[in-house]
Amino acid sequence: MRQTVDPSFEERLSQAAARTESGLAAALSGTSLLLAGAPERLLAAMRHGALDGGKRLRPFLVEEAARLFGAEPAQAAPVAQALECIHCYSLIHDDLPAMDDDDLRRGRPTVHRAYDEATAILAGDALLTLAFGLLAEGEASIEPAARLTLIRLLSREAGAAGMAGGQALDLAAETTTLDEAEIARMQAMKTGALIAFAAEAGAVLAGAAPADRRALRRFGEIVGLAFQLADDLLDETADTATLGKAAGKDAARGKKTLPALRGIDWTRAELDRLVAEAEALLEPFGTRADTLRQTARFVAWRAK
Ligand code: IPE
Ligand code: IPE
Ligand code: MG
Ligand code: MG
Ligand code: MG
Repeated sequence: MRQTVDPSFEERLSQAAARTESGLAAALSGTSLLLAGAPERLLAAMRHGALDGGKRLRPFLVEEAARLFGAEPAQAAPVAQALECIHCYSLIHDDLPAMDDDDLRRGRPTVHRAYDEATAILAGDALLTLAFGLLAEGEASIEPAARLTLIRLLSREAGAAGMAGGQALDLAAETTTLDEAEIARMQAMKTGALIAFAAEAGAVLAGAAPADRRALRRFGEIVGLAFQLADDLLDETADTATLGKAAGKDAARGKKTLPALRGIDWTRAELDRLVAEAEALLEPFGTRADTLRQTARFVAWRAK
């Protein structure tokens, strides 16, 4: 029943990734007001964690959600870059010995392996802080009221009620048994929150109407669920070379993921169901939302 992902979609995604890469490289060059005078080793660790890798899916979602409401990628850039800084910080900290204790990320040593633990903690802190600077600083492409909404939303979605809170639940789940509803809540927070932000933020920065903004938010939540489900499935089914990060880690650490509890066939069917739900939310936008439809498919079906 699965249709394939349109090949031109991957081309679009890689063009957007190149935009994010060059924007982040400029932001992390150390010459901007936000980072001038920063210690070189800390800057290098930040670059190691943020540059030269990753699918850049969250920035792409920001751009595409914004495009749906008539805003160009350049207008979305500060939000896209800020969100990717937060995502990269979350990965640096996720890999620390006190959390998932991983040595490999995006095919390279994790930041604490390439530098040291303290530097990795600080590089994460500094990327998180930089994100809010970038959001506040961007050229006058976003209305001041929308900019404040974005800052407040990102604070919530990255923080204790969002990603960081989800990571706390994820760690607790290593020693307690969560039921399926609790796993879904943990996933919605640790991964769904930033992806939902991406879609909602695109709508906000482009000045979308409240009902459209809500639809995009919900779309992002569904894509976020699919994203973590696919990540958990890939952890079981793919190999380390393909993933660029250690495979089989969830079972090894006793993490009870939905693919582990329900099996691979159930997970694939659930991913198909989530794609259908995401696509249904885009119905009112017609063919203009085709790239976002493809995004939902790409996210869910990257795990074969
Ligand atoms: C990995 O995120 C962490 C999760 C939230 C599951 P990505 O799969 O987006 O990682 P990169 O940025 O492409 O490396
Ligand atoms: C990470 O989930 C979610 C984050 C908020 C970083 P995972 O721990 O499953 O991510 P990977 O598999 O290490 O990329
Ligand atoms: Mg983790
Ligand atoms: Mg991890
Ligand atoms: Mg994982």
